[in-house]
Amino acid sequence: MQHILGIDVGASGIKGAVVDIAHGKLQGERFRVPTPQPSTPKAMAGAFSEIVEFFNYKGPVGCGFPTIVKNGVANSAANIDKTWIGTNIEKVFGEACDCPVFATNDADAAGVAEMRHGKGRDENGLVVFITIGTGLGSALFYKGELIPNTELGHLLWKHGKSAEAWCSSGARSRLKISRSEWAERFNEYLNHLELLLSPDLFILGGGESKAFEQYKHQLMTQARVVPAKLLNNAGIIGAADYAVENYKGEV
Ligand code: BGC
Repeated sequence: MQHILGIDVGASGIKGAVVDIAHGKLQGERFRVPTPQPSTPKAMAGAFSEIVEFFNYKGPVGCGFPTIVKNGVANSAANIDKTWIGTNIEKVFGEACDCPVFATNDADAAGVAEMRHGKGRDENGLVVFITIGTGLGSALFYKGELIPNTELGHLLWKHGKSAEAWCSSGARSRLKISRSEWAERFNEYLNHLELLLSPDLFILGGGESKAFEQYKHQLMTQARVVPAKLLNNAGIIGAADYAVENYKGEV
């Protein structure tokens, strides 16, 4: 049985757990450290290693990272320190913890986990997975296949700002708006995505998906909308899956 460490790096917290790959679930407890501020590569590498050390782990580590990730390199930095742009995440974290690290976009990681082990199972049409946290992350699937780095949270929205500045969880607390007002905004955003993509299913993940029951009546789309089954563990599970798929050695 494969047990792989998955680490979900977020703008406010870095969470890790050993994942039972075969069953798509955490093998034991989660460990979280707050994201250092400023979130420079050096400071984040320290926090990342702290998690690896906590689990006393050696082996491939999967990492979900909150930026566009191409070949292990961060190509954007919406909610973390801008010095990440152009930085090789796998190299910086790998050297710090002395383990091979495999990095992918955090929403892509969470979406893949949800497609495999959660509400996306057996969904063969177009699925849009949205994580609602400090930022808005997205993962797009057609017939189960991921189209990576979609960044639908950065659709240009009202007043020329990105959608995430208007209806992420981060925006809700920053602008001090009620959940109901937030849900109204989010519904408008989902309807716009529906117009552009005609999905069959929306899956909502991230912190805000836990409160789904409170606002689901405000979401009015033709496509079904469901909260993620794996909730906040999807990112960790998907990151571990990503490491297994990309690691060439023995585990
Ligand atoms: C980033 C995405 C990320 C999302 C969720 C956005 O601001 O641009 O890459 O997936 O936040 O963390």
